Amino acid sequence: MDNLKNFRRTNYCGDLRLGDTGKTVSLCGWVQRQRDLGGLIFVDLRDRTGLVQLSFDDGTDQAVFEKASSLRSEYVIAATGTVRERESKTDKIATGAIEVYVTELRLLAKAETPPFEIVEHSKANDMLRLKYRYLDLRRPDMQKMIATRHKVTKIARDYFDEQGFYEIETPMLTKSTPEGARDYLVPSRVHPGKFYALPQSPQQYKQLLMLSGFDRYMQIARCFRDEDLRADRQPEFTQIDLEMSFVEQDDVIAVNEGFLQRVFKEVLDVDIQLPLPRMTWQDAMDKYGSDKPDVRFGFEIKDISDIAKDCSFKVFKDTVENGGTVRLINVNGYADKFPRKEIDKLGEFVKTYRAKGLAWMKLAADGSMTSSFAKFLSEDEIAAIKERAGAKENDLLFVVADANWQTAAVALGALRCELAKRLGLAKKDDFKLLWVTEFPQFEYSEEENRLVAMHHPFTAPMDEDIPLLDTDPAKVRAKAYDIILNGCELGGGSIRIHDPELQTKMFEALGFTEEKAKEQFGHLITAFSYGAPPHGGLAYGLDRLCMLLAGLDSIRDVIAFPKVQNASDLMMNCPDVVDDKQLDDLSIAVTRVEEEPQA
Ligand code: AMO
Ligand code: AMP
Repeated sequence: MDNLKNFRRTNYCGDLRLGDTGKTVSLCGWVQRQRDLGGLIFVDLRDRTGLVQLSFDDGTDQAVFEKASSLRSEYVIAATGTVRERESKTDKIATGAIEVYVTELRLLAKAETPPFEIVEHSKANDMLRLKYRYLDLRRPDMQKMIATRHKVTKIARDYFDEQGFYEIETPMLTKSTPEGARDYLVPSRVHPGKFYALPQSPQQYKQLLMLSGFDRYMQIARCFRDEDLRADRQPEFTQIDLEMSFVEQDDVIAVNEGFLQRVFKEVLDVDIQLPLPRMTWQDAMDKYGSDKPDVRFGFEIKDISDIAKDCSFKVFKDTVENGGTVRLINVNGYADKFPRKEIDKLGEFVKTYRAKGLAWMKLAADGSMTSSFAKFLSEDEIAAIKERAGAKENDLLFVVADANWQTAAVALGALRCELAKRLGLAKKDDFKLLWVTEFPQFEYSEEENRLVAMHHPFTAPMDEDIPLLDTDPAKVRAKAYDIILNGCELGGGSIRIHDPELQTKMFEALGFTEEKAKEQFGHLITAFSYGAPPHGGLAYGLDRLCMLLAGLDSIRDVIAFPKVQNASDLMMNCPDVVDDKQLDDLSIAVTRVEEEPQA
């Protein structure tokens, strides 16, 4: 095997162009492909920038030629040669107009045949790709993705630095606190029976940094949450985490709009118009049935309870009489795309969102109408519904009646997104950003049978709603805001409570006894008593931001070493058992072990 003694790389492979013709260059990388045409050998050499063709012919030094003929895919080599114009140019690769005629070749490492081909848009099975993630990451699309992620992170650091933010690290070994997701725990050796928790976010630390007077904080923060995985959720993920002192909601929003504008411009050359639209949580739920509305397409939800309440269709009438609502969406212009069978299947779809049924009305292009419920309605009622829905020819109305307005809204919200997906209306390169504001302070937890903080317990209520904390807490709105991109929650934040009295009140409303609040948040309550500035902040999911910028469907594809559905790492083979000695040191006894999967 050769080495790199006295070899100096001069260029990356993918950077060479016709303008470099005549130059002597030294390159390093992996063999993508070797073609031996007898007296002629071509090798595609790959590094993180792309491919370039190396060529060898009967004029090549004999030893170099022989070495070239021994090359196989994924061998690691270094080569020196002259850039020359290619006879048969290709525009398939950026360096397609030139090749490098090699005079010196070094073989640095041989390679086994990889378990899948190292190519863009791999068809290899996901599990295999993740088991050999280091090989998967060699593929050009993954290389590009990691480069983009680096760029986004760099823009965040530069931008927030320019805005006066300090980058400050906060601990990974911290205290378990209730609320939020389940914690990942770390046993303490020194304190038997006691545990650290890995941070779900640096929330408390960043607030304490404001109390310390740092004024503006940012961190590329690793966060850990033991929750069920989804396409946009990983057990460990990264936030661009921010906090600012002496600010109101508009100040936080303004700084962040500047950041988003810069990211879109520099990464995608897309111009984002500012200020971004804002929508209250109530409007988002009413119109889009979601607190992360996708506004790339219409099909907005409308309430027809007032029309439905007197009709003879029992489902509608009874629902309204019992305090529920009847709502609809108009899939305008697409009725012909949904035959009866398809419509029936959509009834099953909404049931997965707890709707009890899906009524429908279809207006054909010729003006005729078919419907699952119209026969129970008067002509006036039908006309009123059509008018409310803005219905014309080739429109399709879907109606959900439910005792709970949120159930009806959420089911229709999910349906409008599903239909838009099927109809190809949600274009990945159509970037629609907006703020959702005025979130409820609390939400009801069925599991715990009490109100829990929708955001977190440090979120400030809206000034005008503070009196409601005593009388009607469920109605209190928070100074909380989420930034939404194409139906995905990109980030969220809030103005925090900085008044210890109000914080105590908040803990009370959340059902914490004074004792419990002291035990869990005593450090924070004490800190607030020493002069806390008004402050607020926000955290972006960096993984989600990169996923959406890259037009991908899963954050797994923008994380170098992600976990799979069951939270394991297939490459490292973890979590895994540990030595009894290690457990003993930690004073831990394992009472239940995972069964080995059947072969
Ligand atoms: P929140 O819990 O809303 O707020 O998180 C902020 C953002 O982080 C991303 N995110 C995730 N990304 C991937 N996998 C996950 N499991 C995951 N969970 C959250 C989302 C989300 O919008 N401390 C507060 C922020 C603040 O108030 O300043 C917080 O963590 O994009
Ligand atoms: P049923 O009386 O259950 O046979 O339902 C008659 C029609 O009303 C069918 O099209 C059902 O899908 C629809 N339907 C039933 N319950 C609801 C509901 N809660 N909201 C909307 N449509 C419903």
